[in-house]
Amino acid sequence: MNYESLFPTNVKVALMNDPPGAWMPQLPESCIRLSAGYPAPELVPSEQVRSAVNRLIHQERDLPLHYLGSPRVDFLRAQLQERLKHRGIDIREHELLVTSGGCQAIDLIAKVLLDDACVVAVEAPTYMEALEIFRNYTHQIVSVPMDEWGLQTDVLETVLTKRTDAGLPMPRFLYTIPSFHNPTGTTLPLERRLKLLKLAEAFDFLIVEDDAYGELSFANAPVPLKAMDRSGRVVYVGSLSKVVAPGLRVGWIAGPQTLVHACSWFKKDLDHPFAQATMAAYLQDVDFTKRVEALRVAYRKRRDTMMRALDTYMPAFASWHVPEGGFFVWLHIPEIDTTKLLYKALDRGVSFVPGQYFFVNPADGRHFLRLSFSYVDEEQMVKGVQTLGQLLT
Ligand SMILES: Cc1ncc(COP(=O)(O)O)c(C=O)c1O
Repeated sequence: MNYESLFPTNVKVALMNDPPGAWMPQLPESCIRLSAGYPAPELVPSEQVRSAVNRLIHQERDLPLHYLGSPRVDFLRAQLQERLKHRGIDIREHELLVTSGGCQAIDLIAKVLLDDACVVAVEAPTYMEALEIFRNYTHQIVSVPMDEWGLQTDVLETVLTKRTDAGLPMPRFLYTIPSFHNPTGTTLPLERRLKLLKLAEAFDFLIVEDDAYGELSFANAPVPLKAMDRSGRVVYVGSLSKVVAPGLRVGWIAGPQTLVHACSWFKKDLDHPFAQATMAAYLQDVDFTKRVEALRVAYRKRRDTMMRALDTYMPAFASWHVPEGGFFVWLHIPEIDTTKLLYKALDRGVSFVPGQYFFVNPADGRHFLRLSFSYVDEEQMVKGVQTLGQLLT
């Protein structure tokens, strides 16, 4: 049977894109995974999660194992609201939707705001899974270049002005990762943040702010766009994946009530009471501010190790900027095709993510690659960078 013929056009078109996760080749067990944007294994609080589960089942019995009824599911919402207050974001109950990670949040926002007639703007480069998601809904993706300070807001203004002059539609939203960007590690300075908010108002589009790494600052904590938003232009996407555990799949949308309502309308997988109540029980037990501070110290140390290794082993023609937070450093390696380089690196037991996967136009990323300093231990990290340096020289 020709099952493909059953798919509606939008699904057929979406299935012509690269398969999800195509950027991640099969890695042998022994590989030094400088590709992995995961938290460090020793910083995932498995013991505390275990005792949270024990306490949860002891106190609530079967409640978290039903569709509904665990008081901790509501408690998690209150905890998230409280945490957002720390970041200067004050939201009411109906402005928050807990999702299955930041990825589901992005998917739901795309689902309610995009179809093939709609335009979305993204940074170039941007988070590859967000690109995968947007491509499922539209092919009208406008890329706006970045520099070492993040999104080039002047270029964005020019792009939007030209579109207006040509009678082209404005993007429904701009998707941005203003703090400790994936993949570039950059952070948008205050002036650009203010300019971006002004542009959203002037050209009438929304900003989807992905703050997955926002808590993980190594020096100054940037103020989220959402905390500066006075006109309801910013839809905020948060996640506990990088600061607690990705496997618990807890993320959220904080945004205008009408939008949050639409997203929850299409969120047909319901709440995830066991994971959400476990997260709530864990958060009840931990001084989260202290935890975040400890994570900042630990990842800063890893960042420093990575920077020293790059300074020591990379050839002079490679360049990068020092990230002030998050998990990643973005290398520019002129004249080298990083996709081809990956296969040589894999032969030598090291992985990274080639730049092409972070761009709408893959050729734009040919001479870039993303390294992660979050996941592998520091000794392996140095070894991995040394191997890459040798390959390049
Ligand atoms: C920029 C960015 N946003 C969102 C996510 C999604 O994380 P999760 O779905 O685990 O919350 C990630 C994970 O790598 C990310 O890098």
